[in-house]
This record gives sequence, C-alpha cells and structure tokens, in this order.
Amino acid sequence: MDFLMFQLVQESKTPLYEQLYRAIKEAIINGTIEEGIKLPSKRKLADYLAVSQTTIEFAYSQLVAEGFISSEPRRGYFVQNLEELAIIEQDTSFITQEANNTPNFSVDFSPGKIDTDSFPFAIWRKYAKDIVNDEHKDLLQLGHPQGDYELRQQISSYLFQSRGVKSTPEQIILGSGTEQIMPLIIQLLGDKTVYGFENPGYPLTHHLFFKDSRMSVPIPVDNDGVIVAKLEQTSANVMYVTPSHQFPTGAVLAATRRSQLLAWAYQQDNRYIIEDDYDSEFRYTGKPIPSLQGIDQNERVIYLSTFSKSLMPALRIAYAVLPKSLILQYKKRFSYYSATVPRMDQHILANFMEEGYFAKHLNRMRKIYKRKLEIITKTIMEYEPTVTISGEQAGMHILLTIRTTKTETELVKLAEQSNIRIYGLLEYTSAELDEKMNPRLVLGFGGLKTEQVASSIHQLMHALEITKAP
Ligand SMILES: Cc1ncc(COP(=O)(O)O)c(C=O)c1O
Repeated sequence: MDFLMFQLVQESKTPLYEQLYRAIKEAIINGTIEEGIKLPSKRKLADYLAVSQTTIEFAYSQLVAEGFISSEPRRGYFVQNLEELAIIEQDTSFITQEANNTPNFSVDFSPGKIDTDSFPFAIWRKYAKDIVNDEHKDLLQLGHPQGDYELRQQISSYLFQSRGVKSTPEQIILGSGTEQIMPLIIQLLGDKTVYGFENPGYPLTHHLFFKDSRMSVPIPVDNDGVIVAKLEQTSANVMYVTPSHQFPTGAVLAATRRSQLLAWAYQQDNRYIIEDDYDSEFRYTGKPIPSLQGIDQNERVIYLSTFSKSLMPALRIAYAVLPKSLILQYKKRFSYYSATVPRMDQHILANFMEEGYFAKHLNRMRKIYKRKLEIITKTIMEYEPTVTISGEQAGMHILLTIRTTKTETELVKLAEQSNIRIYGLLEYTSAELDEKMNPRLVLGFGGLKTEQVASSIHQLMHALEITKAP
C-alpha cells in the first residue's frame, strides 16, 4: 500500500487531518487497504506526507473511534474487519455551507427582531426556578393537546381585555408558532378550500397557499389594507389577513373594509377569515382598533396571534381562537396531536401573565418601540421628500418609499455592500405588483438599540447614496 497516494491539499477549507481521515476511510471501504494491514507509524506517515504528527494522530484517532482501525499497544494500527461495522456515510459538506450562509451584518433591519435589552430576565428566571422542581413533577407528563388550561385561561382573559376577542379557554389551541398552527388550520378547513391571501404579505402564507400549490389567490393591498373588492371577484372562501398592521406594508385595514370583509364572509356558509393579529400589542397612534373577531357576529373569524413579538420569537408560542363550529371538529379530529409547546414554558408564561408581568412588560416595550419609531421618523424627515415613511402606526417595522431611478434590488445590493441588511418589498410578494411603483423597503427596528437607531438610518441613507434635503 502506497501511502503517498494520499494527496493532501494545504489550501483547502477542510483541515488536513480530515482529508487524511476521509482518504484512509475510503480506501478501507473500497478495499484498497485490506483487513489486517498495519498502517504506517504516525512518525513515518507524517514524514511521508510532510505534515505534523498531530495531523496523523487526529486522523488515526477518528478512525479508531469509528472502528475502521484498532490501536494495539506497542504494535501499531491495524485495519479492522469491515463486515462487523455498520458504515453510515455522512455528508458533512453542508455544515460548512451552513456556517458560511449566515453573514454578519453590522446593521440588520430584519422585521423579525425584538429588543433583547429590555427582557425581564430576573422575573422569568424566578418562575422557571419555581417550576423546575419535584413539586411540579406532573409537568413531566404530556399535557392537554390544546395546551394547558391555565395558559389558555390567561390568554382568553388577556385577549378579551386588550383586543375585544371573545373566547373561552376551550376554544383556544396553542402551538409552537404561527408556522405550526397555520398548517393545522388548513388541514381542518379541508382540501376544497380556496384561500385568498395578502400580496405583498407574510412569506409563510405565500409558501403555504401559493408555493405548496393549494387553491389560492393573491389579493392586492393598498394604503387601506387588503382590497376587499378584489377578493369579492374571486372564488376564495377563506381570506388570510393582518388587519391591525398589514405585514409588511404596515397599512391598517380601514373601517369600511373591515365591515366589507365581514359582510363577504357572511354571504356563504363556508366562508372564514383568518385574522393574524401578530403585533397588535404595539399601537402608537390613534384609537385602539378592535379585532375583527371581536366585532364578528357570526363566528366566521379564526383569530391567530403569537408571543413572538410581544415577548420573544424564540419562545415559540402562538395560539388560535377557533369559532365554536370549528373547535368541535378540531377536538374530534385532532386530539391525537400532543401540544407542540413544552409544558414548563407554558407554565412559566401562565404565571408571568397571571401576576401582571406580561401587561407590565407590554407597557414598557410599547414606550421603547415608540421611542425608536420617533427617532426614525425624525431622522427620515431629513431625507424627505426622497424618502417617505408609511405603516408607522403600529408594530416593529415600517415601510420606506424611495424616489429614485434605482431599482429595489439595486438598493438592497448597495446596502449589502455597506454590510447593512435591508429587505425589499419584492421579497414579500407572490405575484407581480404595479411596475410603476417607487422602490419600497421594509425596515424592522425592533432589534436596533435605541442609541443606534439614528446612526443606523444615516448609515443606510449613505449606503443608498441618498443625501439630505438642502
Ligand atoms: C404576519 C406574521 N404573523 C406571525 C408572525 C409570527 O410567527 P411565529 O408565531 O411563527 O413566530 C410573524 C413574525 O414575524 C408575522 O410577521
């Protein structure tokens, strides 16, 4: 066996020891190195290949660990009998790709980020500590498939007080994110359903309704939210909407459109509205707008919300309030699904809500996000009329419209060259929008530090080659 056949590439991203380990392993598997053969000593092979002995040591240890060779004291390393070894080929090339695919931007205007400096860690820790002990050993067992009653009770009363949502805990289902609940709702509504969904809109809906080839129609959105008149011209019988703060344009669904949408739903027995109220906790101007579910008289609204904005996206707790007819079907058909939220997290959250900390946290965060938004508005004013803001009444993202000859893609690229991540509206569209529109950018501000908001906006403007108004 000629061990010089192993060509190790010094400049490769794969470490030398891994290249050697893979080469020897392959030679053993394809029989080039036979069972019982003694491998060269570490020193000899290191000399042959002009690498360090540590490189050989690492490669041999990995082969020993996987059972390809054995180490016999004072005798050396011997190739093992392969038949006794279950060989599982593992492709690890994607691991490096994954690591390389997450560039670190100096500023990220992602609409999915929250303020992490203001999280009440001490209180959360106290509830976590109280729960992880043998007084609560029942929490080690599976709980109710819809989620534990205590948390559903808290959610039900919170929703009534803050959003006018009418529900009983029995109507609520918990899931580990809107992403997990939506497919369940789709399953519940059955194959014959035709979905209307907002365009531009929440990417999840584009995937679930459009790319997954369900019968669906994108419905355009303007400054007053989704254009219900367009929905009326389609065969859709279930409409997904974000009425409190349209994602991603930030438009609030106008009062007339709300009534029009409910009236549309009442026209046929099988019509429903899926109301995604994902960031309604944060409303900064004007009167609070009640949920559609709260004004619905005929049980046609499936209400959906999440703790991803109000607490943290990593908690993975979202919920739906199903109309009575659907919850009965749900209980019949889906009770075999266990709840997807860990019970300990459910209980920490239930206690956090029960003792008033959730309401307190929301009040605090509302002030923090409002302050960030004020800074953004003031800073952007310096760049008007080239740049204008919309969608600033609620939530943690706004829309910037840029008067420029550049395209949206060019703007996103320019920002990227300055290490800034900004999101073009086109990333959220599923069917063509009006070509003549000025480029629009979705700017999430939740994750920016208050003291860095103004400078981040100036950096972005500089990157986009936009100068201040004279
Ligand atoms: C429109 C919309 N709905 C829901 C969510 C939350 O999803 P999840 O509960 O899966 O975190 C988001 C988060 O960005 C959103 O933009």
